[in-house]
Amino acid sequence: MFIEKFRVESPNVRYGEEEIESVYSYETTELVHEVRDGAYQWIVKPKSVHYHFKTSTRVPKLGVMLVGWGGNNGSTLTAGVIANREGISWATKDKVQQANYYGSLTQASAIRVGSFNGEEIYAPFKSLLPMVNPDEIVFGGWDISRMNLADAMARAKVLDIDLQKQLRPYMEPMVPLPGIYDPDFIAANQGSRAVNILGGTKKEQVERIIRDIREFREREEVEKVVVLWTANTERYSNVAVGLNDTRENLMAALERGEQEISPSTLYSIACVLEGVPFINGSPQNTFVPGLIEMAIARNSLIGGDDFKSGQTKMKSVLVDFLVGAGIKPTSIVSYNHLGNNDGMNLSAPQTFRSKEISKSNVVDDMVSSNGILYEPGEHPDHVVVIKYVPYVGDSKRAMDEYTSEIFMGGRSTIVLHNTCEDSLLAAPIILDLVLLAELTTRIQIKAAGESKFHSFHPVASLLSYLSKAPLVPPGTPVVNALSKQRAMLENILRACVGLAPENNMILEYK
Ligand SMILES: NC(=O)c1ccc[n+]([C@@H]2O[C@H](COP(=O)([O-])OP(=O)(O)OC[C@H]3O[C@@H](n4cnc5c(N)ncnc54)[C@H](O)[C@@H]3O)[C@@H](O)[C@H]2O)c1
Repeated sequence: MFIEKFRVESPNVRYGEEEIESVYSYETTELVHEVRDGAYQWIVKPKSVHYHFKTSTRVPKLGVMLVGWGGNNGSTLTAGVIANREGISWATKDKVQQANYYGSLTQASAIRVGSFNGEEIYAPFKSLLPMVNPDEIVFGGWDISRMNLADAMARAKVLDIDLQKQLRPYMEPMVPLPGIYDPDFIAANQGSRAVNILGGTKKEQVERIIRDIREFREREEVEKVVVLWTANTERYSNVAVGLNDTRENLMAALERGEQEISPSTLYSIACVLEGVPFINGSPQNTFVPGLIEMAIARNSLIGGDDFKSGQTKMKSVLVDFLVGAGIKPTSIVSYNHLGNNDGMNLSAPQTFRSKEISKSNVVDDMVSSNGILYEPGEHPDHVVVIKYVPYVGDSKRAMDEYTSEIFMGGRSTIVLHNTCEDSLLAAPIILDLVLLAELTTRIQIKAAGESKFHSFHPVASLLSYLSKAPLVPPGTPVVNALSKQRAMLENILRACVGLAPENNMILEYK
């Protein structure tokens, strides 16, 4: 059965006027490695830690500024939200289609809240905690192309034409602000688009972005802003001592106007200085060590990297399943072809390399979790190919071959072929990223023994489910398996309202 909403009643949770407070007993383990009876032994000690959560229920009017607003993702997301807000339906060759938020974890997925008379009861994910209603988001942003959003939507060739016609009046007045452009960082084939660009030094560009954010906030009367990079994939920037290795060195390099500070890092510096969450939806190393240090010092949320929308999402499910089933993947070969502007940009070796890196580590934690299947340091062969094929446009083809060793030396080969509009996969993920980033800034946490509440770590590992190469605080394990990432997110939100984590034991029926 599906219910729309629920309320938790427990001595451990208090619904106040402006906040929900909960006390949560976190059942975990503590490991020690010690000599006992003359031999080293691992000792595992179950442990309970009490955490207090405090979540502000004041849902703000949210502004979202996209870097690369006029791209396929930016225009598709803006169009999708307007279509939902306005309740637009349109004719396709099959049926009359209604706008929806399919593909969004927060808007279109469910959580289990318990069972009643032998029946499982589910509720919308978004009913866990008060979240911004996506229909009410105000969009803005930057693009190096000056095209208004209606023309950008037409250029993207993603949405049905009848829908585009209805959306045009809403989107024509939306024109991106000039962006920071540096041809050294994206493919040369993007040059003809770059007509809407900021001049000045790098420092002046950062100051301009800060002014843009402030003006947007005032003009649109939004209470909070989240900035998200959905612009073209950049090449990696060099990380060097004295350049961007520390916060001081990064700021000094900005003063000097060092070439090696990428546009995406410049936008993120502006956001960190302004205390505005910044999310990186592309694979490049925007978050150089100095930037991470600065975000931590200023407690300003950063999250990324690279939307986990298609092939990698499947991989983070399939390899988790195989390794978890005691099957040994030995070769994973992923081939893609796509014909959108992202594909054209990725046809340059330096930008492709960024994508290759972000796609490559996704199975590492699963492989290293099983020492029965893999020797220390042993890895499956893992190859990723991306080719630009203009004719297929945004409709990406992803082909994957997984070869595994099974019982008694047998081989199993699984082949997947996925055809899908890339931007229709990415747009709901962008939505989730901004909604969850905003929600995260309203949650405060305190462990037993701590005197004060504090926010979550500014490096937002809570967003891992949505990221291909999850950015985590220094010294924290990276979790790639999709089911674990989803469980982490759901269980933390459950804890905020005093609900136990979903452990699937269903003991009440055993
Ligand atoms: N499923 C997906 O679509 C998916 C998944 C993962 C990651 N991504 C990443 O998302 C990004 C966007 O994808 P897309 O399909 O929308 O690409 P796109 O090329 O259609 O859009 C990118 C936009 O960014 C603009 N731009 C480039 N550099 C800029 C800058 N410095 N400042 C402001 N604007 C700038 C371009 O003019 C363009 O309009 C790509 O980096 C892609 O790799 C996409």
